[in-house]
Amino acid sequence: MKGIILSGGSATRLRPCTKVTSKQLLPVYNRPMIYYPLNTLIKAGIKEILIIVAPERAGDYLNLLGSGKEFGVKFTYEIQDEPKGLAEAFIIGEKFIDEDNVTMILGDNIFEDDFSQDIKSFKSGGKVFAKKVHDPERFGIVEFDKKNKAISIEEKPKSPKSNYCVTGLYIYDSRVIEAAKSLKPSKRGELEITDLNNWYLEKGELEVAMVKGEWIDAGTFDSLLRAQNFAKEKMQDKMVI
Ligand code: G1P
Repeated sequence: MKGIILSGGSATRLRPCTKVTSKQLLPVYNRPMIYYPLNTLIKAGIKEILIIVAPERAGDYLNLLGSGKEFGVKFTYEIQDEPKGLAEAFIIGEKFIDEDNVTMILGDNIFEDDFSQDIKSFKSGGKVFAKKVHDPERFGIVEFDKKNKAISIEEKPKSPKSNYCVTGLYIYDSRVIEAAKSLKPSKRGELEITDLNNWYLEKGELEVAMVKGEWIDAGTFDSLLRAQNFAKEKMQDKMVI
């Protein structure tokens, strides 16, 4: 199993804080934000991690994280020239992934749960993790049938078919590379992870599990503030880095 942390983007919603560095390097209580998703991967035993960053911020990441030796892992870095969508990570990461399975986590997502078992026992197909939210218009939303089986996923729906959003942790087999290459950009000009998830779903190969603990996408000032308190109260004893 390989790991990818997608940490690109320009985070205009967090200006002026993100004028000089990347959103995912801002402090969340006593650690840079990216330490939390990194912790999720390292705890699950992943040793090879690709960090995808925006070109203007690459130096900051190298200075902070280096080779990975300090964490007992190996980091590889790639640049995402423009924020062209989450699914582009698997095209950028083609050589790195090679023929292995891959877990991708977003650099601004903080999870309380330990996903070690899901990651270690993963064989093939795709697996995503859903969480109930009260603002479903902002996310990729899962539609379930009467038997609670996922039947579709819609990106930022105007009329959401449920309150269950796909969070920023994704496990796929290496077919994810060809799947990503087959996608067309959406209306917002991005290769959508939701389309990738539907690619697996249509084949009956996407498992949708539930996130049990807290999950925060720290991409706005309000969620960043929540993340600070949550990290202080709940995350400290869960960190191995
Ligand atoms: C992205 C995905 C969305 C997912 C969300 C989780 O949204 O497109 O499907 O639910 O991450 O954080 P974005 O951050 O691009 O708005």
